[in-house]
Amino acid sequence: MADEAKIDYEESTGNSLYNSFLVCGSVFECLSRYSPLKPIGKGAYGVVCSARDSESNQKVAIKKIANAFENLVDAKRTLREIKLVRHLNHENVVQIRDLIPPMVHSHFKDLYVVYELMDTDLHQIIRSPQPLSDDHCQYFLYQVLRGLKYIHSAAILHRDLKPSNLLVNANCDLKICDFGLARSTSSSRVEFMTEYVVTRWYRAPELLLSCSEYGTAIDVWSVGCIFAELLGRKPLFPGKDYVHQLNLITRTIGSPSEEELGFISSDKARRYIRSLPRCEPTDFQKLWPNANPKAVDLVKKMLMFDPNKRITVEEALGHEYLATLHDISDEPVCPDPFTFDLESDDLTPDVVRGIILRDMASLHPAQAEGLESAASAIMGGASPSYSQQRAPQVTVSAGSQPASQPLPQASRPPSHQQNGTSGAAQSPTQQHAEHPSSTTPCLQSQHRQHEEQKQDAEASSATPGSAC
Ligand SMILES: Nc1ncnc2c1ncn2[C@@H]1O[C@H](COP(=O)(O)OP(=O)(O)OP(=O)(O)O)[C@@H](O)[C@H]1O
Ligand SMILES: [Mg+2]
Repeated sequence: MADEAKIDYEESTGNSLYNSFLVCGSVFECLSRYSPLKPIGKGAYGVVCSARDSESNQKVAIKKIANAFENLVDAKRTLREIKLVRHLNHENVVQIRDLIPPMVHSHFKDLYVVYELMDTDLHQIIRSPQPLSDDHCQYFLYQVLRGLKYIHSAAILHRDLKPSNLLVNANCDLKICDFGLARSTSSSRVEFMTEYVVTRWYRAPELLLSCSEYGTAIDVWSVGCIFAELLGRKPLFPGKDYVHQLNLITRTIGSPSEEELGFISSDKARRYIRSLPRCEPTDFQKLWPNANPKAVDLVKKMLMFDPNKRITVEEALGHEYLATLHDISDEPVCPDPFTFDLESDDLTPDVVRGIILRDMASLHPAQAEGLESAASAIMGGASPSYSQQRAPQVTVSAGSQPASQPLPQASRPPSHQQNGTSGAAQSPTQQHAEHPSSTTPCLQSQHRQHEEQKQDAEASSATPGSAC
């Protein structure tokens, strides 16, 4: 890892409750109960480091989202991440342990979110030289689908599934993270969902073709791409732009039949697909000669061009490839629907700041009064629907969440079942767990990209379906 990607200094802030340190050139100002350990990752929106929480004596991951409320796009992205992740409670979804209150409540600009710490992510594993057995592929795929079944049951689409958003532990436990682009399917604003689109390589045809109605099948497509990447150790559809992306897809899975174009709402988009050279489907088994034929069958079913023909998450869990792991009695659904309206017109960056201050108040009873009054001051002129709402009292208290439970025997990777040894000994993730240098080098904060805005611009200029 580059020199700048280390914890450079740690110093007092003049407030005994807080300390500050530098991660990848970004100053972290955190409660002093969190001692920084090392930088572990960065995304377009956040810099992440590991830390030890002296209250729980557990290691955690702290993600700094700088200027989290600079504009409405960023503020809503931040709000989705917090509200959705805190609503979801599942072994295959990462958990938020704390939201660190700002040192000066009224100067709340940067947000520090504390998560349970994982060792690495699937992007790092796929890029590593470590061998991945069929058992590993099965176990990773099974856990993504198990988490996704729960997420979809809460009427939530993740919409940004990609290897770097799948966190993995040395024992191969996997958790889905990064809900910044997720959406509630119960939102009344379905028509605006196409404004936001997932990372291109994992984007389903219906999103590429700007079809206004799409659903859980978009996440299945992304999982199919990730699964193919696990089998082939490289991205299946590394498109350079929309047109290239669609070309790669049709060249690989074959041109869709006339019937399979029925879901495309725009004549223009349909004409575009018809105009592409006719292609026969590639033989996936030839592409990955060592792959289990059952894996090849499942990946084909996940990568159906027509979302109506694509396998569903529940069907995929029941596919014979996952037969040794599948146990319907241990694949829970979400008991409570997600009801927070993330698309309300009343949301402004300041309203979002206030809502998150109130969430912090619910986690920090000792600071609750100050946080509540800062929230009220910030939200002063906001719509009564938000300014008068108080946060529900402690739903998740810092450090009090149960550590992730080991998966029951039935859902453990077969190698663990067979020899009964600790997963860490043979795990493909171990090397990453021990070598943070394998994480992506950190970018300077000014290089932060607004992925949604970039993709919106791209969507309106380049997609053949933009007239949909
Ligand atoms: N809880 C965690 N434990 C370990 N590593 C983590 C954790 N959370 C995030 N990371 C690492 O940090 C990276 C960035 O995190 P995340 O995806 O949440 O940020 P982001 O800025 O929203 O990303 P993106 O670029 O996908 O929009 C992840 O890909 C992962 O490598
Ligand atoms: Mg991410």
